Amino acid sequence: MDIKRKSFKGGALTAPVPAAIVTVGNMEKYGALTVSWTGILATVPPKTYVSIRPSRNSYPILKEGGEFVVNLPSADMARAVDYIGIYSGKKVDKLEKCALTKVKSERVDAPTVAECPIALECVVSEVIPMGSHDVFVADIVSVSAREDLIDAEGKIRFDRANLLAYAHGEYFLLGEKVGRFGFSTDKGEEKRKKSNAISELGSREKKKITEIKNQIAKGDIKNGSDIGKQLAKGDTKNGSGTGKQLAKGNTKNGSGGERLHSTSESKSKRESEEKKRPFYLDAPRGKRAKAISSDKDKGRPHGKRTKKSGSV
Ligand SMILES: Cc1cc2nc3c(=O)[nH]c(=O)nc-3n(C[C@H](O)[C@H](O)[C@H](O)COP(=O)(O)O)c2cc1C
Repeated sequence: MDIKRKSFKGGALTAPVPAAIVTVGNMEKYGALTVSWTGILATVPPKTYVSIRPSRNSYPILKEGGEFVVNLPSADMARAVDYIGIYSGKKVDKLEKCALTKVKSERVDAPTVAECPIALECVVSEVIPMGSHDVFVADIVSVSAREDLIDAEGKIRFDRANLLAYAHGEYFLLGEKVGRFGFSTDKGEEKRKKSNAISELGSREKKKITEIKNQIAKGDIKNGSDIGKQLAKGDTKNGSGTGKQLAKGNTKNGSGGERLHSTSESKSKRESEEKKRPFYLDAPRGKRAKAISSDKDKGRPHGKRTKKSGSV
């Protein structure tokens, strides 16, 4: 394929990047600025960085406190994010101006922005001058997520977080989920097919069982063993397992469909997958948070743009 490309001179262009609200200082004296030059440096120990120009009002506060929070905002906060990235905190309380709430962080003095879906609490380990910016390398000592974004299984639902992205001077809303870590591998593909097959089978079984329950209610079928025989006869292609179970009386009517999802094999697979999952995808074990209802889109004040965005 003949794909033509054009070259430009070297520049700071990685996209998308976050447009994070970085908070520094403490609850009484804090600084907040928008930072796109941030990312992950290592998984173990979990390390991040923020690159900050020494001219920022937040810079000396960060240098003195040695701690910061990377607050990842949602797209409905874009205007506030832009405001915080344009105005200096020297004269204005930017979080208050943007109707954002600062709350105490778990492990650092720098405050967390309560409305942000995710917040990374960080302790600076070194500062590296890097030309226009100084790079603050830091340990991520704690991560918090808005409880309304944690589902019944304790997982942070990034698909509901509407995280904000930034690409070369423009803000974007992250789009739909298009895959999952490892889904391009044969194993991932196999897993996907298997899980699709299981859920298909589950819904077919459930439909059949509802039908049968209705028949029982009408008095057309008298007991569970008849149902088992029906299923085992091949009314459903893969239903023989459930059919046999029902015929043996191992399950009472109706429970077969659900049981297909929780065989001991799939349970142990799920458990081992869960162990492999990075810690920040799991809420503290044992805690069961409520599922979300909806995001509140509070009106944000408009910040008059004072300069063109792009170079940060
Ligand atoms: C989208 C966006 C990304 C930015 N990224 C950075 C950055 O990575 N580093 C930095 O020093 N400034 C960055 N800025 C600029 C600061 O956020 C801005 O100068 C802010 O007003 C500084 O606030 P302060 O003076 O109260 O600390 C960014 C601004 C915007 C709008």
